[in-house]
Amino acid sequence: MPQIHHEGDSYVTEGDESVLDCLLRHGVSVSYGCKAGACQSCLMQAGEGALPPESQKGLKDTQKYDKQFLACMCRPQADLEVAKLRTVAKTYTSQVIEIEHLSAEIVRIRLAQPDGFSYRAGQFINIVTPNNVSRSYSLASVPELDDYLELHVRRIPSGLVSTWLCDHLKVNAHLTISEAMGQCFYVPTRHEQPLLLIGTGSGLAPLYGIARDALRQGHSGPIHLYHGSSHQDGIYYVEEMSALADQHPHFNYTPTLSRPHELPKIQLGRAHEMALKSVNRLSGWRLYLCGHPEMVQGTKQKAFIAGASLQDIYTDPFTFTQHPPKAV
Ligand SMILES: Cc1cc2nc3c(=O)[nH]c(=O)nc-3n(C[C@H](O)[C@H](O)[C@H](O)COP(=O)(O)OP(=O)(O)OC[C@H]3O[C@@H](n4cnc5c(N)ncnc54)[C@H](O)[C@@H]3O)c2cc1C
Ligand code: FES
Repeated sequence: MPQIHHEGDSYVTEGDESVLDCLLRHGVSVSYGCKAGACQSCLMQAGEGALPPESQKGLKDTQKYDKQFLACMCRPQADLEVAKLRTVAKTYTSQVIEIEHLSAEIVRIRLAQPDGFSYRAGQFINIVTPNNVSRSYSLASVPELDDYLELHVRRIPSGLVSTWLCDHLKVNAHLTISEAMGQCFYVPTRHEQPLLLIGTGSGLAPLYGIARDALRQGHSGPIHLYHGSSHQDGIYYVEEMSALADQHPHFNYTPTLSRPHELPKIQLGRAHEMALKSVNRLSGWRLYLCGHPEMVQGTKQKAFIAGASLQDIYTDPFTFTQHPPKAV
């Protein structure tokens, strides 16, 4: 089996193991998040040895040239020398200024914006725990409107980082966060273009930022936001979103629950199905899809078939780690 050479030690890979899993299995401390090629927390640099192409998918040409690669996506066919990246994403220390439980499973965390930190509404940051476990969370705040960073964290039962953030984090604590990343944000071109925003659960976080940013920048075309969940605790911010719709006649908000319920204002059905059904042809529309990875991927395909241009579909799949480590 191929060996991984790292800082003078050699580790034999097992089966189809990734470089990340091999190093973690041998107790090497490596930063990571989604384990699915999305968050880039596991970026490393190769020395001697060939890199499989999928380990560099989504990286810039300059990074590829530099032999940088995603350790979670790297399953080498032959021996490979690897090193931790010297130029990792820039990190900041931020203080928790407010924690509020919006529902039984969604917690809103507001952080002080560190000096020098800049972002666009809808981008995400990586939060790094004291034990160097990293997870991505989207920014619901808008830099021009809010003087804090706002996150909506869904508590995943037995999830390492989400339960730590939802149940153990305290106001005034300091958090290590990365610089803002991601391409899912509002671009102020074609102000008249109709926008369709679809999110599930805490996938409302980036959409809340994107919608407010579009309105702030004078977007004049219709904006339709569908927010859905299979259960009541996944729906939150109904008052805030309804108030936004009251203030802006061209902003439409539809909260949905896929299971039968008796809640006022909430429609029965799946957000993505109702959203796609509401528009006959999507050619000329711009879409933002955020939340569960299967919903995001499936809706992207259906939207493309319904006429949307791939250039006009912005996605933020909340890809999650399949095999978590033992402790935060
Ligand atoms: C770009 C990006 C942006 C994100 N933004 C947000 C955000 O704004 N808010 C937010 O709450 N999350 C967001 N996520 C997801 C987040 O990064 C974590 O994956 C999530 O909080 C779970 O981490 P954990 O450490 O608690 O669970 P883990 O310890 O990683 O997982 C524990 C177990 O739960 C399962 N699991 C994890 N997540 C889910 C899920 N969603 N549904 C079903 N099973 C799951 C895993 O397979 C695992 O078996 C985002 C992810 C990405 C990639
Ligand atoms: S890209 Fe490798 S852990 Fe997220």
